[in-house]
Amino acid sequence: MAGRIPQNFIDDLLTRIDIIDVIDGYVPLRKAGRNHQALCPFHDEKTPSFTVSQEKQFYHCFGCGANGTAITFLMDYKGMDFVEAIEELASRAGLEVPREGGAFHKDNGSAELYELMELVVRYYCRQLREHPEARRTIDYLKGRGISGELAAEFELGFSPPGWDNLLRNLGNSDAAQERLARTGMVLKKDTGGYYDRFRDRIIFPIRDQRGRAIGFGGRVLDDSTPKYLNSPETPIFHKGRELYGLYQARRKLKDLVRLYIVEGYMDVLALAQYGIHNTVATLGTAVTPEHLDRLFKVCPQLIFCFDGDAAGQKAAWRALEIALPLLRDGRQCYFRFMPEEDDPDSFVRKHGSKRFEDASDFVPLSDHLLNTLKQDIDIKTREGCALLVEKVIPYLARLPAGALYELLLKDIASQSRLSVEDLKRLLLGRQQTSQKPLRNVHRTIPKQGDSTLIGKAIRLLLQHPFLAQLDKARNEIADIDVPGVEFLQELLAFINSNPDTTCAGILEHWRNSNIERRLNELAAMENLLMERHEIEADFLDVIAKVRKNYQKKQRQARAQAVNNLEELRKLYTAGPATDQKE
Ligand code: CTP
Ligand code: MN
Repeated sequence: MAGRIPQNFIDDLLTRIDIIDVIDGYVPLRKAGRNHQALCPFHDEKTPSFTVSQEKQFYHCFGCGANGTAITFLMDYKGMDFVEAIEELASRAGLEVPREGGAFHKDNGSAELYELMELVVRYYCRQLREHPEARRTIDYLKGRGISGELAAEFELGFSPPGWDNLLRNLGNSDAAQERLARTGMVLKKDTGGYYDRFRDRIIFPIRDQRGRAIGFGGRVLDDSTPKYLNSPETPIFHKGRELYGLYQARRKLKDLVRLYIVEGYMDVLALAQYGIHNTVATLGTAVTPEHLDRLFKVCPQLIFCFDGDAAGQKAAWRALEIALPLLRDGRQCYFRFMPEEDDPDSFVRKHGSKRFEDASDFVPLSDHLLNTLKQDIDIKTREGCALLVEKVIPYLARLPAGALYELLLKDIASQSRLSVEDLKRLLLGRQQTSQKPLRNVHRTIPKQGDSTLIGKAIRLLLQHPFLAQLDKARNEIADIDVPGVEFLQELLAFINSNPDTTCAGILEHWRNSNIERRLNELAAMENLLMERHEIEADFLDVIAKVRKNYQKKQRQARAQAVNNLEELRKLYTAGPATDQKE
């Protein structure tokens, strides 16, 4: 199986493609001055603020802030994952994507786990067709309205009764058993040896977005407990990230206009049986930010479809809290609440798909927010209004800037009889006191003081990579070690060993690092039109200042050291301590 894609292939690939061609294939671009423009595909707008720079190989929308490289574009616009985007670009450039180390290498052994899981899927599917006791399972599925075609599409299977079916079939060496254990498919016995996790259950294989089998769910055929059993977390299975049905939905539908998020495997299947293929389920866990991030990458409209009971209401509120920070322009969330007695499965069977998909029953997230907060508040009184504002502010503060934010602000202001300005002021006060510290960083591009200089140097290099060739600049900072300069040195070295690289090439090289965001911010800043020699002078000036500041700090440190030394000397030469008593 495949190892990692070598970073130098990605570095090289980016010098061979043109972001203009890539984006123009999906969003027709118009040349405007030095850049290309279009209506932004990531939010609704009437005048174009989506700009693509050929020089930087970078796009940026001044409206919604979306930005990135050709790879980012394919990921965010086409919903590809990173590897798919690389493969797409490579095939345009007529290149084969190389892999490090070939089979079973460099990937901490997950490649062999994926292969094994594929065999497990096939094994369980075969049991459903061939095992003498599978009849009960088929009858059960038929009884719940699942057709043979749908069972085949979702690769439903049967784990026969008994403790060692899988073990005997796929675990015929110690190594094989140990591998099965790593996938969570077998468990270790206290007395040594292993036993099958799934016994006498309907099996639901779980595939990741790329179609790799990563885990399983299993349901009993009667009322015994636990009703559902799931694969545990393994090196290749993370419930907080994966969603049941996403692979099938994306394979079935080219354009995902909206996605329903439900709670159960059977809900996904029942809806699919009724022609609603745009459904995913969480895997026995609550919705996480990673889930929503992943879904928003492939679809702008998410409909949470929770059960009508108290637990469903609670899950909806949690989902709301998690979704709020992700609601940039163009992204929408709704709730489609089920009646108390139904889940999506029973609902669609009772009422049909039309009724299920009736958008007039979708509650916009912002409505749900206000309606819930307004419960038990008498908004006719001043005290009620104040209470509402008090309650809503923490939620507003988590919503990113954009149209939804502004509209909500207006509504809340008018409902609580405040002006929008007053509300904004209250909000601002609140935000300043509740700022959370950012994640830990090991590689730093500091934000203040000296660092604005380093930030500027980095920005200039992103915009004009040729600057890295200036020996003078390289020499001036070669021996400096202050935070941020290490990165500057790394960046200079990278550009010098990849002389054709662009802004995009640099961004891709540091994708997934902790400075990815900051680099993107710097890259998104406008290039000022300047002559080459002016740019060089500007850069050298910045570097010279960085060096000067460094030297000044060194001098101060030395002076401090001398001071300390003198202090010390004084202490010692003062003779034996006199205040000590015998
Ligand atoms: N679940 C689980 N473990 C359980 C119960 C439930 O992991 N013991 C997860 C499963 O993913 C299941 C989902 O929660 O699909 C919803 O559970 P529930 O509402 O109890 O079941 P239904 O999906 O309605 O199952 P069915 O209709 O088959 O009874
Ligand atoms: Mn159910």
